Amino acid sequence: MTHDYDVIVVGSGIAGLSFALRVARKNYTVAIITKKTRAESNTNYAQGGIACVTSERDDFEFHVHDTLSAGDGLCNESVVREIVNDGPARIQELIDLGVNFSQLNDGRLSLGKEGGHSKRRILHVQDITGKAIESALLEAVARMKNITTLEHFFAIDLIKCSALTGSANPTPIKDDKIIGLYALNVRAGVVESFRSRVVLIATGGAGQAYQYTTNPDIATGDGIAMAYRVGVEIENMEFIQFHPTTLYTNTDERFLVSEAVRGEGAILRDMDESAFMTHYHSQADLAPRDIVARAIDSEMKKSGAQHLWLDITDHSEAVLKERFPTIYNKCLHHGINIAQEFIPIVPAAHYLCGGVKTNTHAVTSLNGLFACGEVACTGLHGANRLASNSLLEAVVLAHNGAEIVLNYLERNKKEALILPDWVDGDVQNSDERVILSHNSDELKRTMWDYVAIVRTTKRLERAQTRIQNLSKEIEEYYWNFKVEPSLLQLRNLIQVAELIVKCALQRKESRGLHYILDHPEKNTNPKNTYLQKLE
Ligand code: FAD
Ligand code: SIN
Repeated sequence: MTHDYDVIVVGSGIAGLSFALRVARKNYTVAIITKKTRAESNTNYAQGGIACVTSERDDFEFHVHDTLSAGDGLCNESVVREIVNDGPARIQELIDLGVNFSQLNDGRLSLGKEGGHSKRRILHVQDITGKAIESALLEAVARMKNITTLEHFFAIDLIKCSALTGSANPTPIKDDKIIGLYALNVRAGVVESFRSRVVLIATGGAGQAYQYTTNPDIATGDGIAMAYRVGVEIENMEFIQFHPTTLYTNTDERFLVSEAVRGEGAILRDMDESAFMTHYHSQADLAPRDIVARAIDSEMKKSGAQHLWLDITDHSEAVLKERFPTIYNKCLHHGINIAQEFIPIVPAAHYLCGGVKTNTHAVTSLNGLFACGEVACTGLHGANRLASNSLLEAVVLAHNGAEIVLNYLERNKKEALILPDWVDGDVQNSDERVILSHNSDELKRTMWDYVAIVRTTKRLERAQTRIQNLSKEIEEYYWNFKVEPSLLQLRNLIQVAELIVKCALQRKESRGLHYILDHPEKNTNPKNTYLQKLE
């Protein structure tokens, strides 16, 4: 079966939905493909908020400075300026869609503070900012007749023009471009083809490559793996951001305790209950995230502790319930009243700063393919993302990308291309699923043990060997059995893990989120790391 749309958007988080809404205003047909239910995304779990200059005490220059400083010498300054300056217009659009950002009693916006920010500038909806934004965007999408949202469709691979062979498509094609994709209709268990002039990848991050992560199950780096497989340029994959404070439990689950809690005065304490962040940075508990996560890691290694503490007990229960209802309730569920007791915390994988290389208009290195949101690497974050800049980047890129795409659609008229069918061959349903769960566990443990907050060349090389073995096994499995989401996700995670390690091995210095013991210094002339699959 072949579906036909002008534009296909893969992903229904803030990036995909914002982009789809803007493109659909011009009456083009748009399909949003999403692998689970429509709200399931990293966006939906965002707590702290969205960074934007709105206060008269703030200034665009301060936000630019804070972003550059967190990015540790690798941000692209003109990109930073553009995204920061576009913030207020994009925020207004969210407000117009019905996002009801928290306000003070006098009606002004309540602005939160997070690590690395010199001013209060984080707009938030209590601690459920992501959910509020996701719901408003989904409601707006539902009102658009020319947007079709397909839940439980798993995008597998992109189709390039050069993949077309035979007499069915006789037109010589000079420049290669994207003409559609294959997606697994999960409920029906069949792979379907989608033909389109434009594909936007908005598939989010890859936190699931690690054993401990704040990310939900959908964050498996599918878009990066798909883009890489068709030869698109990928950048800076070594910069994995570990969030300093997630609730420690003795399961693998890691619930985020927002940095906004430290913004309201919470203090990190070691197992003797002493505050320690002043030993590491002048901004102490509100230092940039890479520094705080590394400090916690170092304190835990020194003492052998399983976790450290976060102390917000100087706030009343009423205040905490109002400002952080989700965190308050989650901790209570685990038997911790945060107004009275310290919260046990550990770092966990949180955000991917690298990804598909784009400019500020979501343009990738391949015609017809656009990317925005966490999957993209624009140069905003450099070596370490400033807190709450991700949602901002997603809305700015979605807006700019849509403008370029509308132009692209004008210039590239529909062609009568016949897509090659997906070939299932004589593959069977798998009777060896244990390989998937076993290899998934092994991958996540390897990444956590060898490719996390503190790295060495030896550990990276060990990880590389193990990932190569996993890759061989999973490729064999892929060709022998029918595709299913757990197989596709694992294949993509392994691919992404390979890219992370390759980039990490390229960077022979310690910068931002990449801290490697055998190269503790910074290079004087840092460059982005870069990968592209050559056919
Ligand atoms: P997502 O919101 O992750 O959406 C990706 C979409 O793609 C999903 O719908 C997914 O199902 C779909 N998808 C993926 N692969 C496929 C496939 N193969 N086929 C079909 N569909 C697919 N950032 C901030 O700026 N401020 C915050 O306060 C903040 N808090 C956070 C808290 C948590 C717990 C987490 C996990 C992240 C937080 N972040 C925050 C980061 C931020 O939420 C994300 O970077 C951002 O939401 C990413 O948006 P996105 O649209 O790019 O991707
Ligand atoms: C948080 O609320 O601490 C997460 C903010 C972010 O990742 O930007």
